[in-house]
Amino acid sequence: MNILVTGGAGYIGSHTCLELLNAGYDVEVIDNLSNSREESMIRVRELAGRNIVFHKVDLLDKIGLDKVFGSSQIDAVIHFAGLKAVSESVEFPLLYYQNNVSGTLNLCEAMKKYNVKNIVFSSSATVYGDPHTVPVTEEFPLNPTNPYGRTKLMIENILRDVYNADNDWNISLLRYFNPAGAHQSGRIGEDPGGVPSNLFPYIARVAVGKLNVLSVFGNDYNTTDGTGVRDYIHVVDVALGHVKALEKLERVSGVIVLNLGTGRGYSVLEIISAFEKASGRKIPYKIVGRRSGDVASSYADPSKAERELGWSACRGLDEMCEDVWRWQASNPNGYE
Ligand code: NAD
Ligand code: WQD
Repeated sequence: MNILVTGGAGYIGSHTCLELLNAGYDVEVIDNLSNSREESMIRVRELAGRNIVFHKVDLLDKIGLDKVFGSSQIDAVIHFAGLKAVSESVEFPLLYYQNNVSGTLNLCEAMKKYNVKNIVFSSSATVYGDPHTVPVTEEFPLNPTNPYGRTKLMIENILRDVYNADNDWNISLLRYFNPAGAHQSGRIGEDPGGVPSNLFPYIARVAVGKLNVLSVFGNDYNTTDGTGVRDYIHVVDVALGHVKALEKLERVSGVIVLNLGTGRGYSVLEIISAFEKASGRKIPYKIVGRRSGDVASSYADPSKAERELGWSACRGLDEMCEDVWRWQASNPNGYE
Protein backbone atom coordinates (compact mmCIF):
# COMPACT_ATOMS: atom_id res chain seq x y z
CA MET A 1 0.00 0.00 0.00
CA ASN A 2 1.14 3.51 -0.81
CA ILE A 3 0.58 6.06 1.96
CA LEU A 4 0.70 9.81 1.41
CA VAL A 5 1.95 11.55 4.55
CA THR A 6 1.31 15.31 4.69
CA GLY A 7 3.73 17.10 7.02
CA GLY A 8 5.92 13.99 6.89
CA ALA A 9 9.17 15.95 7.27
CA GLY A 10 8.05 17.26 10.68
CA TYR A 11 8.54 15.84 14.15
CA ILE A 12 5.74 13.27 14.44
CA GLY A 13 5.53 12.82 10.66
CA SER A 14 9.16 11.74 10.26
CA HIS A 15 8.88 9.16 13.04
CA THR A 16 5.66 7.86 11.50
CA CYS A 17 7.23 7.60 8.02
CA LEU A 18 9.96 5.42 9.52
CA GLU A 19 7.48 3.10 11.24
CA LEU A 20 5.38 2.89 8.05
CA LEU A 21 8.46 1.88 6.02
CA ASN A 22 9.43 -0.63 8.71
CA ALA A 23 5.92 -2.10 8.52
CA GLY A 24 6.26 -2.56 4.74
CA TYR A 25 4.21 0.38 3.45
CA ASP A 26 5.41 2.58 0.60
CA VAL A 27 5.53 6.24 1.60
CA GLU A 28 5.21 9.56 -0.21
CA VAL A 29 5.49 12.84 1.66
CA ILE A 30 4.06 16.28 0.97
CA ASP A 31 5.62 19.06 3.04
CA ASN A 32 6.26 22.76 2.40
CA LEU A 33 9.17 22.65 4.91
CA SER A 34 7.74 25.68 6.74
CA ASN A 35 8.63 24.04 10.07
CA SER A 36 11.02 21.26 9.06
CA ARG A 37 14.00 20.35 6.91
CA GLU A 38 14.39 17.82 4.16
CA GLU A 39 17.34 16.37 6.10
CA SER A 40 14.79 14.49 8.24
CA MET A 41 13.69 12.61 5.12
CA ILE A 42 17.29 11.71 4.24
CA ARG A 43 17.78 10.29 7.72
CA VAL A 44 14.52 8.33 7.67
CA ARG A 45 15.58 6.77 4.35
CA GLU A 46 18.94 5.84 5.91
CA LEU A 47 17.35 4.32 9.01
CA ALA A 48 14.79 2.30 7.03
CA GLY A 49 17.08 1.39 4.13
CA ARG A 50 14.17 2.26 1.85
CA ASN A 51 13.10 5.20 -0.27
CA ILE A 52 10.51 7.91 0.41
CA VAL A 53 9.18 9.99 -2.46
CA PHE A 54 9.33 13.60 -1.28
CA HIS A 55 7.19 16.40 -2.77
CA LYS A 56 7.94 19.94 -1.62
CA VAL A 57 4.36 21.11 -1.97
CA ASP A 58 2.17 23.44 0.08
CA LEU A 59 -1.36 22.22 0.82
CA LEU A 60 -2.55 25.67 -0.18
CA ASP A 61 -1.19 25.02 -3.69
CA LYS A 62 -4.10 23.21 -5.35
CA ILE A 63 -2.26 22.67 -8.62
CA GLY A 64 0.78 21.16 -6.89
CA LEU A 65 -1.50 18.91 -4.85
CA ASP A 66 -3.36 17.78 -7.95
CA LYS A 67 -0.07 16.85 -9.60
CA VAL A 68 0.91 14.64 -6.66
CA PHE A 69 -2.43 12.81 -6.68
CA GLY A 70 -2.41 12.61 -10.48
CA SER A 71 1.07 11.10 -10.65
CA SER A 72 0.79 8.43 -7.93
CA GLN A 73 -1.59 5.70 -6.88
CA ILE A 74 -2.36 6.63 -3.25
CA ASP A 75 -4.26 4.25 -0.98
CA ALA A 76 -4.51 6.33 2.19
CA VAL A 77 -3.46 9.67 3.64
CA ILE A 78 -2.01 10.47 7.05
CA HIS A 79 -2.53 14.18 7.55
CA PHE A 80 -0.01 15.86 9.87
CA ALA A 81 0.58 19.09 7.95
CA GLY A 82 -0.42 22.11 9.97
CA LEU A 83 0.78 24.92 12.16
CA LYS A 84 0.77 24.03 15.84
CA ALA A 85 2.00 26.85 18.11
CA VAL A 86 -0.75 27.93 20.47
CA SER A 87 0.54 31.44 21.23
CA GLU A 88 1.29 32.13 17.56
CA SER A 89 -2.29 31.11 16.74
CA VAL A 90 -3.60 33.72 19.18
CA GLU A 91 -1.47 36.38 17.49
CA PHE A 92 -2.13 35.28 13.89
CA PRO A 93 -5.51 33.51 13.87
CA LEU A 94 -6.13 34.05 10.15
CA LEU A 95 -2.83 32.37 9.29
CA TYR A 96 -3.89 29.34 11.34
CA TYR A 97 -7.41 29.08 9.88
CA GLN A 98 -6.01 29.57 6.38
CA ASN A 99 -3.17 27.09 6.67
CA ASN A 100 -4.82 24.37 8.74
CA VAL A 101 -8.45 24.54 7.62
CA SER A 102 -8.05 25.64 3.98
CA GLY A 103 -5.11 23.27 3.58
CA THR A 104 -7.31 20.39 4.76
CA LEU A 105 -10.15 21.42 2.44
CA ASN A 106 -7.76 21.35 -0.53
CA LEU A 107 -6.46 17.96 0.56
CA CYS A 108 -9.99 16.52 0.90
CA GLU A 109 -10.97 17.89 -2.51
CA ALA A 110 -7.96 16.24 -4.14
CA MET A 111 -8.70 12.99 -2.29
CA LYS A 112 -12.31 13.08 -3.48
CA LYS A 113 -11.28 13.78 -7.08
CA TYR A 114 -8.84 10.86 -7.10
CA ASN A 115 -11.13 8.55 -5.13
CA VAL A 116 -8.84 8.24 -2.10
CA LYS A 117 -11.16 7.87 0.87
CA ASN A 118 -8.95 6.72 3.76
CA ILE A 119 -7.52 9.34 6.10
CA VAL A 120 -5.91 9.45 9.52
CA PHE A 121 -5.95 12.98 10.95
CA SER A 122 -3.70 14.50 13.65
CA SER A 123 -6.09 16.02 16.10
CA SER A 124 -5.06 17.04 19.58
CA ALA A 125 -6.08 16.81 23.22
CA THR A 126 -6.32 20.57 22.93
CA VAL A 127 -9.87 20.05 21.55
CA TYR A 128 -10.98 19.22 25.12
CA GLY A 129 -9.91 22.65 26.43
CA ASP A 130 -9.86 22.67 30.22
CA PRO A 131 -11.16 19.19 31.17
CA HIS A 132 -13.54 19.18 34.14
CA THR A 133 -11.87 16.05 35.48
CA VAL A 134 -9.16 13.50 34.56
CA PRO A 135 -8.59 11.08 32.93
CA VAL A 136 -10.07 12.46 29.72
CA THR A 137 -12.21 10.14 27.60
CA GLU A 138 -13.23 10.69 23.98
CA GLU A 139 -16.76 11.53 25.19
CA PHE A 140 -15.66 14.66 27.07
CA PRO A 141 -17.08 18.02 25.92
CA LEU A 142 -15.09 19.71 23.16
CA ASN A 143 -14.17 23.24 24.03
CA PRO A 144 -10.83 24.42 22.64
CA THR A 145 -9.61 27.67 24.14
CA ASN A 146 -7.39 29.03 21.35
CA PRO A 147 -7.46 29.41 17.54
CA TYR A 148 -5.06 26.48 17.02
CA GLY A 149 -7.38 24.18 18.97
CA ARG A 150 -10.39 25.52 17.12
CA THR A 151 -8.77 24.65 13.76
CA LYS A 152 -8.42 21.06 15.02
CA LEU A 153 -12.07 20.89 16.06
CA MET A 154 -13.21 22.46 12.77
CA ILE A 155 -11.23 19.89 10.80
CA GLU A 156 -12.69 17.04 12.87
CA ASN A 157 -16.17 18.37 12.05
CA ILE A 158 -15.35 18.83 8.36
CA LEU A 159 -14.18 15.22 8.16
CA ARG A 160 -17.33 13.98 9.93
CA ASP A 161 -19.43 15.87 7.38
CA VAL A 162 -17.42 14.37 4.52
CA TYR A 163 -18.23 10.94 5.92
CA ASN A 164 -21.92 11.82 6.43
CA ALA A 165 -22.15 12.77 2.76
CA ASP A 166 -20.32 9.66 1.55
CA ASN A 167 -20.15 6.61 3.80
CA ASP A 168 -17.35 5.09 1.73
CA TRP A 169 -14.85 7.28 3.58
CA ASN A 170 -12.82 5.78 6.43
CA ILE A 171 -11.62 8.37 8.90
CA SER A 172 -9.52 8.18 12.06
CA LEU A 173 -9.34 11.23 14.29
CA LEU A 174 -6.38 10.75 16.63
CA ARG A 175 -6.20 13.11 19.59
CA TYR A 176 -2.61 13.13 20.83
CA PHE A 177 -1.77 14.27 24.34
CA ASN A 178 1.88 15.46 24.75
CA PRO A 179 4.21 13.73 22.28
CA ALA A 180 7.84 13.76 23.42
CA GLY A 181 10.98 11.69 22.92
CA ALA A 182 12.89 10.82 19.78
CA HIS A 183 13.88 7.75 17.79
CA GLN A 184 16.31 5.63 19.78
CA SER A 185 18.97 5.98 17.06
CA GLY A 186 19.35 9.67 17.96
CA ARG A 187 19.15 10.45 14.21
CA ILE A 188 15.66 11.98 14.14
CA GLY A 189 13.88 14.06 16.76
CA GLU A 190 12.09 17.31 17.51
CA ASP A 191 13.75 20.40 16.02
CA PRO A 192 11.64 23.50 16.73
CA GLY A 193 12.82 26.77 15.21
CA GLY A 194 13.58 29.63 17.63
CA VAL A 195 12.97 29.34 21.36
CA PRO A 196 10.85 26.25 22.07
CA SER A 197 7.49 26.79 23.74
CA ASN A 198 7.01 23.15 24.77
CA LEU A 199 8.55 21.68 27.89
CA PHE A 200 10.68 18.83 26.50
CA PRO A 201 12.55 20.71 23.77
CA TYR A 202 13.11 23.59 26.19
CA ILE A 203 14.62 21.32 28.85
CA ALA A 204 16.76 19.59 26.22
CA ARG A 205 18.22 22.95 25.13
CA VAL A 206 18.94 23.91 28.73
CA ALA A 207 20.68 20.55 29.26
CA VAL A 208 22.86 21.01 26.17
CA GLY A 209 23.74 24.57 27.22
CA LYS A 210 21.86 26.43 24.46
CA LEU A 211 19.47 28.03 26.98
CA ASN A 212 20.35 29.05 30.53
CA VAL A 213 17.37 28.33 32.69
CA LEU A 214 13.93 26.77 32.47
CA SER A 215 10.97 28.83 33.65
CA VAL A 216 8.45 26.62 35.44
CA PHE A 217 5.06 28.14 34.80
CA GLY A 218 3.41 28.10 38.23
CA ASN A 219 3.74 25.91 41.34
CA ASP A 220 0.38 26.73 42.86
CA TYR A 221 -1.83 24.33 40.88
CA ASN A 222 -3.92 21.74 42.64
CA THR A 223 -1.49 18.90 41.78
CA THR A 224 0.90 16.75 43.84
CA ASP A 225 3.74 19.31 43.79
CA GLY A 226 1.83 22.35 42.49
CA THR A 227 3.24 22.22 38.92
CA GLY A 228 1.24 21.29 35.82
CA VAL A 229 0.60 17.62 35.08
CA ARG A 230 0.54 16.23 31.52
CA ASP A 231 0.40 12.92 29.70
CA TYR A 232 3.75 12.73 27.85
CA ILE A 233 3.74 10.01 25.23
CA HIS A 234 6.78 8.72 23.35
CA VAL A 235 6.72 9.86 19.72
CA VAL A 236 7.51 6.32 18.52
CA ASP A 237 4.41 5.07 20.37
CA VAL A 238 2.42 7.83 18.65
CA ALA A 239 3.88 6.75 15.29
CA LEU A 240 2.98 3.12 15.93
CA GLY A 241 -0.56 4.23 16.81
CA HIS A 242 -0.83 5.56 13.24
CA VAL A 243 0.27 2.26 11.76
CA LYS A 244 -2.42 0.52 13.84
CA ALA A 245 -5.02 3.14 12.84
CA LEU A 246 -4.23 2.49 9.17
CA GLU A 247 -4.67 -1.24 9.63
CA LYS A 248 -8.02 -0.54 11.26
CA LEU A 249 -9.14 1.65 8.34
CA GLU A 250 -8.46 -1.26 6.02
CA ARG A 251 -10.81 -3.47 8.07
CA VAL A 252 -13.61 -1.22 9.32
CA SER A 253 -15.30 1.79 7.75
CA GLY A 254 -16.67 4.93 9.41
CA VAL A 255 -15.31 7.68 11.62
CA ILE A 256 -13.38 6.69 14.71
CA VAL A 257 -12.09 9.05 17.40
CA LEU A 258 -9.25 7.92 19.64
CA ASN A 259 -7.08 9.41 22.35
CA LEU A 260 -3.37 8.64 22.02
CA GLY A 261 -1.94 8.97 25.50
CA THR A 262 -0.42 6.80 28.21
CA GLY A 263 -3.05 7.30 30.90
CA ARG A 264 -0.40 8.58 33.30
CA GLY A 265 0.40 12.18 34.15
CA TYR A 266 3.73 13.66 35.28
CA SER A 267 4.37 17.07 36.81
CA VAL A 268 6.91 19.56 35.47
CA LEU A 269 9.20 18.90 38.45
CA GLU A 270 9.03 15.14 37.83
CA ILE A 271 10.04 15.71 34.21
CA ILE A 272 12.98 17.88 35.27
CA SER A 273 14.27 15.26 37.65
CA ALA A 274 13.81 12.40 35.12
CA PHE A 275 15.70 14.45 32.53
CA GLU A 276 18.51 15.21 34.97
CA LYS A 277 18.85 11.48 35.64
CA ALA A 278 18.88 10.60 31.91
CA SER A 279 21.34 13.32 30.90
CA GLY A 280 23.55 13.48 33.97
CA ARG A 281 23.18 17.27 33.71
CA LYS A 282 21.66 19.71 36.19
CA ILE A 283 18.64 21.59 34.80
CA PRO A 284 18.60 25.05 36.39
CA TYR A 285 15.03 26.25 36.78
CA LYS A 286 13.07 29.07 38.37
CA ILE A 287 9.43 29.20 39.35
CA VAL A 288 7.55 31.97 37.55
CA GLY A 289 3.86 32.86 37.22
CA ARG A 290 1.32 30.64 35.46
CA ARG A 291 1.26 30.69 31.64
CA SER A 292 -2.03 32.05 30.39
CA GLY A 293 -4.33 29.31 29.08
CA ASP A 294 -2.57 26.43 30.91
CA VAL A 295 -4.63 23.88 32.81
CA ALA A 296 -3.59 22.17 36.04
CA SER A 297 -3.82 18.59 34.92
CA SER A 298 -4.59 16.70 31.73
CA TYR A 299 -4.09 13.04 30.96
CA ALA A 300 -5.83 10.54 28.76
CA ASP A 301 -8.03 7.57 29.27
CA PRO A 302 -6.36 5.56 26.49
CA SER A 303 -8.53 2.44 26.88
CA LYS A 304 -10.54 2.99 23.69
CA ALA A 305 -7.39 2.90 21.52
CA GLU A 306 -6.32 -0.26 23.29
CA ARG A 307 -9.74 -1.85 22.67
CA GLU A 308 -10.16 -0.68 19.08
CA LEU A 309 -6.59 -0.86 17.78
CA GLY A 310 -4.88 -3.28 20.12
CA TRP A 311 -2.42 -0.42 20.72
CA SER A 312 -1.03 1.03 23.91
CA ALA A 313 1.99 3.16 24.70
CA CYS A 314 4.81 0.98 25.95
CA ARG A 315 7.72 3.41 26.31
CA GLY A 316 8.03 5.10 29.69
CA LEU A 317 9.32 8.45 30.93
CA ASP A 318 12.95 7.36 31.46
CA GLU A 319 13.18 6.08 27.89
CA MET A 320 11.60 9.30 26.61
CA CYS A 321 14.21 11.41 28.43
CA GLU A 322 17.12 9.18 27.36
CA ASP A 323 16.02 9.34 23.72
CA VAL A 324 15.55 13.12 23.76
CA TRP A 325 18.96 13.51 25.34
CA ARG A 326 20.64 11.23 22.76
CA TRP A 327 19.04 13.24 19.95
CA GLN A 328 19.85 16.65 21.46
CA ALA A 329 23.41 15.78 22.53
CA SER A 330 24.34 14.35 19.13
CA ASN A 331 22.50 17.09 17.18
CA PRO A 332 22.95 20.25 19.29
CA ASN A 333 21.82 22.34 16.30
CA GLY A 334 19.03 19.99 15.26
CA TYR A 335 19.06 19.14 11.53
CA GLU A 336 21.14 22.23 10.66
P1 NAD B 1 5.69 19.81 12.94
O1 NAD B 1 5.58 21.28 12.78
O2 NAD B 1 7.02 19.25 13.27
O3 NAD B 1 5.17 19.08 11.61
C1 NAD B 1 4.18 19.65 10.79
C2 NAD B 1 4.71 19.65 9.36
O4 NAD B 1 3.71 20.19 8.48
C3 NAD B 1 5.97 20.49 9.18
O5 NAD B 1 6.97 19.71 8.56
C4 NAD B 1 5.53 21.64 8.30
O6 NAD B 1 6.56 22.08 7.45
C5 NAD B 1 4.36 21.03 7.54
N1 NAD B 1 3.35 21.97 7.07
C6 NAD B 1 2.71 22.93 7.77
N2 NAD B 1 1.83 23.57 6.98
C7 NAD B 1 1.90 23.01 5.75
C8 NAD B 1 1.26 23.25 4.51
N3 NAD B 1 0.36 24.22 4.37
N4 NAD B 1 1.58 22.47 3.46
C9 NAD B 1 2.51 21.50 3.57
N5 NAD B 1 3.16 21.23 4.72
C10 NAD B 1 2.87 21.99 5.80
O7 NAD B 1 4.60 19.37 14.01
P2 NAD B 1 4.39 17.97 14.73
O8 NAD B 1 4.68 18.16 16.16
O9 NAD B 1 5.05 16.90 13.98
O10 NAD B 1 2.82 17.84 14.60
C11 NAD B 1 2.22 17.13 13.54
C12 NAD B 1 0.71 17.28 13.65
O11 NAD B 1 0.28 16.79 14.92
C13 NAD B 1 0.22 18.73 13.57
O12 NAD B 1 -0.97 18.74 12.84
C14 NAD B 1 -0.03 19.09 15.02
O13 NAD B 1 -1.03 20.07 15.13
C15 NAD B 1 -0.49 17.76 15.59
N6 NAD B 1 -0.26 17.64 17.04
C16 NAD B 1 1.00 17.86 17.53
C17 NAD B 1 1.22 17.76 18.90
C18 NAD B 1 2.57 18.04 19.49
O14 NAD B 1 2.65 18.32 20.69
N7 NAD B 1 3.66 17.95 18.73
C19 NAD B 1 0.16 17.42 19.76
C20 NAD B 1 -1.10 17.18 19.21
C21 NAD B 1 -1.29 17.30 17.83
C1 WQD C 1 3.68 21.17 29.41
C2 WQD C 1 3.76 21.62 30.86
C3 WQD C 1 3.50 24.00 31.13
C4 WQD C 1 7.18 25.05 29.01
C5 WQD C 1 0.84 22.01 24.14
C6 WQD C 1 -0.34 22.44 23.31
C7 WQD C 1 -1.20 21.26 22.98
C8 WQD C 1 -0.39 20.14 22.32
C9 WQD C 1 0.83 19.81 23.12
C10 WQD C 1 -0.51 20.38 19.94
C11 WQD C 1 2.72 22.68 31.21
C12 WQD C 1 4.90 23.55 31.55
C13 WQD C 1 6.15 24.36 29.59
C14 WQD C 1 8.08 25.77 29.84
C15 WQD C 1 6.84 25.02 31.76
N1 WQD C 1 0.12 20.52 21.03
N2 WQD C 1 5.99 24.34 30.95
N3 WQD C 1 7.87 25.72 31.20
O1 WQD C 1 0.82 23.22 27.06
O2 WQD C 1 0.41 20.81 27.73
O3 WQD C 1 0.37 21.43 25.35
O4 WQD C 1 1.57 21.01 23.40
O5 WQD C 1 -1.63 20.00 19.76
O6 WQD C 1 -2.18 21.73 22.13
O7 WQD C 1 -1.09 23.38 24.07
O8 WQD C 1 2.52 21.42 26.51
O9 WQD C 1 4.96 21.24 26.63
O10 WQD C 1 3.92 23.53 26.40
O11 WQD C 1 3.69 22.30 28.56
O12 WQD C 1 6.71 25.02 32.98
O13 WQD C 1 9.01 26.44 29.37
O14 WQD C 1 5.04 22.23 31.06
O15 WQD C 1 3.04 25.01 31.97
O16 WQD C 1 2.35 22.45 32.56
P1 WQD C 1 0.97 21.80 26.76
P2 WQD C 1 3.84 22.16 26.96
